Amino acid sequence: MDFAGKVAIITGGASGMGAATVRLFTEAGGQAVLVDRNEKLAQQVAAETGAIPMIGDVSDSAFCNQVIAETVEKFGRLDIVINAAGIIVRAKGADTTDEEWHRIMNVNVSGLFFMCRAAIRQMLQQGHGSIVNFGSIWGDLGAAGVAAYCASKGAVHNLTRALALDHAQDNIRINAVCPGEVNTPMIQSERNEPVTPELMARLASTVPVGRLADPAEIARVALFIASDDASYMTGSLVNVDAGFTAR
Ligand SMILES: NC(=O)c1ccc[n+]([C@@H]2O[C@H](COP(=O)([O-])OP(=O)(O)OC[C@H]3O[C@@H](n4cnc5c(N)ncnc54)[C@H](O)[C@@H]3O)[C@@H](O)[C@H]2O)c1
Repeated sequence: MDFAGKVAIITGGASGMGAATVRLFTEAGGQAVLVDRNEKLAQQVAAETGAIPMIGDVSDSAFCNQVIAETVEKFGRLDIVINAAGIIVRAKGADTTDEEWHRIMNVNVSGLFFMCRAAIRQMLQQGHGSIVNFGSIWGDLGAAGVAAYCASKGAVHNLTRALALDHAQDNIRINAVCPGEVNTPMIQSERNEPVTPELMARLASTVPVGRLADPAEIARVALFIASDDASYMTGSLVNVDAGFTAR
C-alpha cells in the first residue's frame, strides 16, 4: 500500500488494532495523527512511528472538533479517519449498571459519531474523504455476557450505513471493518476469570480457523478499505473473522 502524501487520523491508535493501523499507515508513507486517551501508550507508539499524538477522550465532541481542526491546520488536508477507539463491558444485560451502559454508549457510539461528524464537515469543504469505523462480529450477532457491547456495535454498523448514504454523492466514502476474535489487550480485559493459556486456547477454538487474529491482519483490511483502491466501496461492513460469521 502507498499512502505517501496522505493524512489520516486514527483513534484508539495507542493499542491493539489502532496501533497496528498507525504502524502500517506510517510504514506506507502516510502521516498519522494518533488520537487516544492513554497518554503513555500513545506517546510510545507516536515516538516509534512518527505519528502526531493528540491525547483526549472521543466521547467529548469538543475534543473531536479540535482534533479535526488542528490536523487541518497542521497538514492542510485530511484524507482518512479510522475510528478504532472502543471499550467493552462484560456483563449480561440484567447485570449491566446505568454507569456501564452510558460509558460504553458514550465511547463506542457517541464518540465514534462525534469523530465522523467533525470529519465529514471538513471533508465536505475539501470535497473528498474516507472514513473506516471499527464494528464487530458482535454488531450483527448476539453474544451472551456482552449485551451493551453488542448494542453499541450494532449502532456503529447502522450509523455507518446511514452516513454512507448521506454522503454517497459527496465523494466521501464511509465503511466499517468488523473484526472477529483479535489478540489485543481488549480480548483479555474485564474478564471475570483469570486470563490463562487455557482461556486463550478456548477462545481460539471458537474460530473456524482455530486461532485468534493478529491485529495487523485486521489493520491491513481497514487500510485497504480506507485507500483509493477501494474507490467503489461505501456503506460496506466488511467481516474479517476467519469464517466466524460464515456458519
Ligand atoms: N479485540 C477484538 O477481538 C475486537 C473484535 C471486534 C471489534 N473490536 C473493536 O476494535 C476496536 C479496537 O479494539 P482493540 O481490541 O484494538 O482494543 P484495545 O483496547 O487494544 O485498544 C483500544 C484503544 O482505544 C482507546 N480508547 C478507549 N476509549 C477511548 C476514548 N473514549 N477516547 C480515546 N481513546 C479511547 C484505548 O485507550 C486503547 O488505546 C474497538 O472498537 C473494539 O471494540 C475488537
